[in-house]
Amino acid sequence: MATDIFASANLAGIRLNNRILRSATDETEADDKGFPTEKLTKRYIALAKGEIGGIITGFMGVSEKGKAQQPGMLLIDNDEKIPAFSKMVAAVHDAGAPVIAQIAHCGSNGAYGKEFKVDKITAKQLEEISRQFIDAVIRAKKSGFDGVQLHFAHGYFLSQMISPATNHRRDDWGGSEEKRFHIADVIIKGIREQLPDYPVLVKINGEDDDKNGIHPREAVRISQRLEAVGVNAVEVSRGISFMKHMGPMYGHFPAEMSLAWYPGVKELPGFVKSMMKPGMPKMMGSIDPAPRKYNVDVAKKIKSAVHIPVIAVGGIHDLEEIESTINVDGIDFVSMSRPLILEPSLIQKYKQGRQTTAKCMECNHCGIGISQGRLQCWYGKIPSEINR
Ligand SMILES: Cc1cc2nc3c(=O)[nH]c(=O)nc-3n(C[C@H](O)[C@H](O)[C@H](O)COP(=O)(O)O)c2cc1C
Ligand code: SF4
Repeated sequence: MATDIFASANLAGIRLNNRILRSATDETEADDKGFPTEKLTKRYIALAKGEIGGIITGFMGVSEKGKAQQPGMLLIDNDEKIPAFSKMVAAVHDAGAPVIAQIAHCGSNGAYGKEFKVDKITAKQLEEISRQFIDAVIRAKKSGFDGVQLHFAHGYFLSQMISPATNHRRDDWGGSEEKRFHIADVIIKGIREQLPDYPVLVKINGEDDDKNGIHPREAVRISQRLEAVGVNAVEVSRGISFMKHMGPMYGHFPAEMSLAWYPGVKELPGFVKSMMKPGMPKMMGSIDPAPRKYNVDVAKKIKSAVHIPVIAVGGIHDLEEIESTINVDGIDFVSMSRPLILEPSLIQKYKQGRQTTAKCMECNHCGIGISQGRLQCWYGKIPSEINR
């Protein structure tokens, strides 16, 4: 019998309203110390009222040093944050949705990138970062989050540690596949010692989109290892943020928006930009039209090799795409990001039969927009305040 995608469902002990999650989306709406703001809470309440199954927060840094290049990242880096996060989580619970905290360190892809080259960092620093992840998870639990998701995807620190493209260490923390997994082992076992039953999810890349990186076969083995050390569910994504094919957004590269808005590029002289513009989409691996359900094949491989729930993300936007991922491809849950930026109540619209397709046109302007701390739908337009 077909699964009712709108019926409530259990994910790793978390009661979801339905089988559709909001995938982590950096809202860039924390204050300058990484505390959650009223604006952010309102965004989550809108998603909850729009009958989302559950919300995975935008990535939250384990330390100031682990923060993103773009401003406005949440930091769950000390106990002073617990009352503010508790207040936010309680408000979202009241509005009707569970909340999962995505925990991350941006590594060499972050604001302090030079200090976090995977091959150069010391073992002592790696122990310290592992400890920061464990402490952040404990804080998330104390703040009332329904669970956590460790961010092992998109080329951030843990993704770089686990990927053969970036981890060439010759010590206990790298080299072989087993040793590249060591940091996951240390963090997850450390969490389990203190919180044996707390829901811990992991977001991984099923495909790094780098010839030396993670490909589906290794992603399957990583998922099996994650299950063995006590992870409760995996979300399958792909790509390296702000890189080829728009990384996890895997599709159209918005050259004009990048030239107008992306730091380090927008400052270039006009004539240089005009010369760059025609070749940029090709150079950045733009794919048009955007592929559908582009991580589902890997998610299926993982699903057949593990016993924990699998979540697929990426180009699963329309009602039919959600239905078929769950009922034909046999994936447990789906998640989405971009369509919910434009339409936070999309799932309610689907449920009430008011709509069957998402309005998001996958222009990826929102992906560039956050580079300056603005999460909104630009719908293929260049922000009007830009003087071009
Ligand atoms: C503006 C924006 C911010 C994002 N921030 C995060 C993030 O903080 N953590 C994360 O794991 N993925 C992040 N992603 C990736 C999404 O979670 C998702 O994997 C990707 O957009 C593909 O899903 P979609 O086709 O439903 O948009 C972000 C995506 C966008 C567009
Ligand atoms: S800017 Fe709007 S239409 Fe474009 S990808 Fe983002 S949410 Fe979709």
